[in-house]
Amino acid sequence: MRERSRFQRRSRRSLSAEYPSLYAAFDPEAAGPAADLTALLRPAVHADVDGLLAFDMTLIVRTREQWVETIDKAIRGERLLLVAEVDGTVAAFAQSHHLDEHPVNHAPAGHYLTGVTVLPRYRRAGLARDLTRARLDRIEEQASEAWYFADAENAASIRLHTQLGFVEVSRGPSIHDVTFRSGEGVLFRLELGARRRGGGPSTV
Ligand SMILES: CC(C)(COP(=O)(O)OP(=O)(O)OC[C@H]1O[C@@H](n2cnc3c(N)ncnc32)[C@H](O)[C@@H]1OP(=O)(O)O)[C@@H](O)C(=O)NCCC(=O)NCCS
Repeated sequence: MRERSRFQRRSRRSLSAEYPSLYAAFDPEAAGPAADLTALLRPAVHADVDGLLAFDMTLIVRTREQWVETIDKAIRGERLLLVAEVDGTVAAFAQSHHLDEHPVNHAPAGHYLTGVTVLPRYRRAGLARDLTRARLDRIEEQASEAWYFADAENAASIRLHTQLGFVEVSRGPSIHDVTFRSGEGVLFRLELGARRRGGGPSTV
């Protein structure tokens, strides 16, 4: 899969400062990089490992060996791992998995979006939205619904996903094997047919 996504938005403020925390500061008014930004969305390959090691400031941090293993699983079709490449730099990555029902907290079985991370200097240019639409398109080839969960305090992530149609289902201290910094996570579901009917055009 090779996709191109184009962004031509003017900045209302500089986003060059690195965000200090794991979650992006919630800022509904921000806009993305001032310069035109052309991203190539594609599956991750082993040559991306050095770039992926730069994502050491956020939620999903892996060693070189762990990234190689993750890419191997994606190549075997056991999960999805997409990257957004901007001028030869891995600017963002996003993954999804199928998870079985959790034996303890009973989080449902299904296809889950299991993380999207954008390097701070590339944020608010639509990369996460495009990577999420691309993952949902893949999931829709196999299922009629998709799942996502986040820390209740990760307002930026929750806004991104609810704008794409995800609806809150439940809250709890753990969802699948994940516990949350705030103490509470939120589980969301998206009916994929509803997205087609009313959720706007797909990027793929
Ligand atoms: C959350 C994150 C993935 C968003 O990436 P991004 O590429 O900047 O997001 P997009 O540009 O695609 O934003 C799409 C929409 O999401 C919402 N959004 C994204 N970041 C936001 C923020 N900081 N504050 C408020 N809304 C935000 C907005 O509605 C935005 O649309 P708009 O720019 O037209 O207003 C990014 O901030 C990140 O990597 N955060 C750290 C890791 C993380 O929390 N990942 C999610 C884990 S579940």
